[in-house]
Amino acid sequence: METNPLTEALATAAETAGRAPSIHNTQPWRWVVRNGALELHTVPERRLHELDPEGHLMLLSCGAALFHARVSLAAQGLSPTVERRTAEPLAVIRTAPAAEPDAHARRLVEAGLRRHTDRRPTSTTPVDPDALAAVTAAVRAEGEQAHVLRAEQVLELAATVDRAARAEATDERQQAELGRWVGGERPDGTGIPDAAIPAAPPQTTVPGRDFGVTGTLPVDAGHDTQAVYAVLYGDGDAPVDWLRAGEALSAAWLEAVDRGLNLLPLSAPVEIAHTRQLLRRMLADVGHPHAVIRLGTADTATPGPLTPRLAADQLIDIVTD
Ligand SMILES: Cc1cc2nc3c(=O)[nH]c(=O)nc-3n(C[C@H](O)[C@H](O)[C@H](O)COP(=O)(O)O)c2cc1C
Repeated sequence: METNPLTEALATAAETAGRAPSIHNTQPWRWVVRNGALELHTVPERRLHELDPEGHLMLLSCGAALFHARVSLAAQGLSPTVERRTAEPLAVIRTAPAAEPDAHARRLVEAGLRRHTDRRPTSTTPVDPDALAAVTAAVRAEGEQAHVLRAEQVLELAATVDRAARAEATDERQQAELGRWVGGERPDGTGIPDAAIPAAPPQTTVPGRDFGVTGTLPVDAGHDTQAVYAVLYGDGDAPVDWLRAGEALSAAWLEAVDRGLNLLPLSAPVEIAHTRQLLRRMLADVGHPHAVIRLGTADTATPGPLTPRLAADQLIDIVTD
């Protein structure tokens, strides 16, 4: 089939966004290239109905993919404009030629290809303050804020995360849903394989997610005393605010990777209304919490594994008139 250069650029952006992070690697999105624009749709079958009845995690994940698509377009010399919507499609990206190719976007695309979720303790090297400032600036550029937690707030966060984890562990339906997405080798291209799940509980101040299965990722005895924790928050709680928060999460993540940091989202406390309220209190009620992140210096000697993804033709439709 003959395609024009714009269609190809949009399809490339959608394919690049395939490596975006998503809750439990559900990849709850589908892209449609139509009328010279790129549409972002949700996929109900790849949504976590028990864990995420309000769809917040699905929207964060779609926002993350949206950011990856935007930087791909900018790296290809196009200037994207996004229409964010309350109905399907969730977003429509249109483009105009850019004045010049965006070198920063190109670096972020490269960061997106090596980015992965590393659930081991962070390294003993402290987080570089300039890198941390760049990450929080990237969040602000997406209309969100990042509140970096003080030492005593990290302990409060640990208690809040633990509370959320215990609530989820006792919910049988959530546990059954978790079991469908986590563990094993995941040959279908979705979910979290054993290789990305620690073989033993890592020593962390704030507990990582309890996936209910033991993985095969080797973990040393180190403790992540140098980790930095932050809450991403914004003005609103509407679906579009969660989508924007997902874009901010990816902006932070790609900037972090580009600057030699790794980022781990800890989403359990935002999944439950009660613990989300506790997070909100930690922000002195100035905004709506959307995500919690842990930042650490990346261990480049032994990077963690890349997780599988669905094939591009399962995620992208090109509609020709
Ligand atoms: C909105 C969102 C929430 C997430 N929450 C968690 C979490 O609580 N704990 C965790 O270990 N990983 C979390 N992740 C990471 C995903 O599990 C990960 O992105 C996915 O399995 C794909 O793997 P990759 O990031 O290594 O490519 C989250 C990712 C997103 C986008």
